[in-house]
Amino acid sequence: LANEANTLEELAKTIEDFDGLAVKTHASQMVFADGNPKAEIMVIGEAPGGDEDRMGKPFVGKAGQLLDRMFEAIGLKRDAEDIKNAIYISNILNWRPPGNRTPTPQEIEISLPFIEKHIDLIAPKIIVLMGSVPGKALLNKNEGITKIRGKWHTYQSVTEGLKTKNKDIQAIASFHPAYLLRQPLKKKESWHDLRAIRELYDGKNS
Ligand code: URA
Repeated sequence: LANEANTLEELAKTIEDFDGLAVKTHASQMVFADGNPKAEIMVIGEAPGGDEDRMGKPFVGKAGQLLDRMFEAIGLKRDAEDIKNAIYISNILNWRPPGNRTPTPQEIEISLPFIEKHIDLIAPKIIVLMGSVPGKALLNKNEGITKIRGKWHTYQSVTEGLKTKNKDIQAIASFHPAYLLRQPLKKKESWHDLRAIRELYDGKNS
């Protein structure tokens, strides 16, 4: 199904119409993405929470506000018109899991072709994975976020048979802002990761 979508609109419609995920029946609406689709930096979270489910946009609750402040600290904003200052944001799951539980391995596996197609259509230069769910799933790793964060990885599609145009995108995983709200001392490592993103991006633009 994901292979049939050639535009973001087609992909959003494919996800909306797809009945293979039971979380859809509990959620109030699909949460597809936010930000500038031309951005060269794509940020990927886990799944919508209650605020996102109500608003239909990713990262708009407390964690989302922290996410905005984190990226603004390195000069990037979801609503920036200039693509050099913009980010684009989505999640592994497009529907809120009931009670905000963590998505199951099966839900993640079913959602992967859609988010990987989404990445391919956006064609970012850099992917930022917030937390261990997107980190493990898209980097194909078993280790937790503490092990995989803060280093550059080469992202390649993990879905067998998915047709992609973009190969070898630089990807970094970092702590999820919801985790940082609970563990503020981890902001130090998070800041290291944000600076690494800024430096790599400046290098790509020079
Ligand atoms: N947490 C996520 O991972 N994504 C959201 O969109 C909101 C909270």
